[in-house]
Amino acid sequence: MTSSIIASQINKKNDSVLGLATGSTPVGTYRNLVEQYRNGQIDFSHITTVNLDEYCGLEPKHPQSYRFFMDENLLKHVNINAEKIHFPTKNENFDTKIQKIGGIDLQLLGIGHNGHIGFNEPDTVFYNNTRVVKLAPSTINANSRFFDDVANVPKTAITMGMSTIMAARKIVLIAGADKTEIINKLSEDIVSPQFPASILHYHPDCTVILSLE
Ligand code: PGA
Repeated sequence: MTSSIIASQINKKNDSVLGLATGSTPVGTYRNLVEQYRNGQIDFSHITTVNLDEYCGLEPKHPQSYRFFMDENLLKHVNINAEKIHFPTKNENFDTKIQKIGGIDLQLLGIGHNGHIGFNEPDTVFYNNTRVVKLAPSTINANSRFFDDVANVPKTAITMGMSTIMAARKIVLIAGADKTEIINKLSEDIVSPQFPASILHYHPDCTVILSLE
């Protein structure tokens, strides 16, 4: 279902700017998109991608970097122009860059068990731009499953901010069955910076998909 939403965005506007997310949840979505590309149903040649976040201190070729994840799961399998692939870095203003390329048409999001989106952890501030953040201990623990040792999980990351995400024209948040509790909480009418994803209640075009498979 998520891949159909992304495919129809690509087919409606062949030069769409797609905001992409990493993590376990979107793996199946990317697999479906690669399949649709191979079947000639979608074309990435004019597509631009901007990624939601990246660890600080990991090279793009590091197997746990989000760049590596995106290459392996989607980007190296489709006909995207390498110059149109963008990740946040410390060295440039990512929000300005996104504005210059026309803004995000569709932003894909996952959600953390603590309600984070991107690496926007529970906080007292609701609106912020792309910036370097310290990861919450619960996020470091959750992500340690991908590393040999919890000590090797980077302690900081660069993430699109809440304002960056909210500026996307369309948002699709996807969650697996393990996130049922947090999605139930999201469906309640509580909007608080302590629950970052709750800001999405204010977005005019946000779809939440809970996959119970
Ligand atoms: P997951 O992560 O898809 O690996 O569960 C989502 C997130 O923490 O944002």
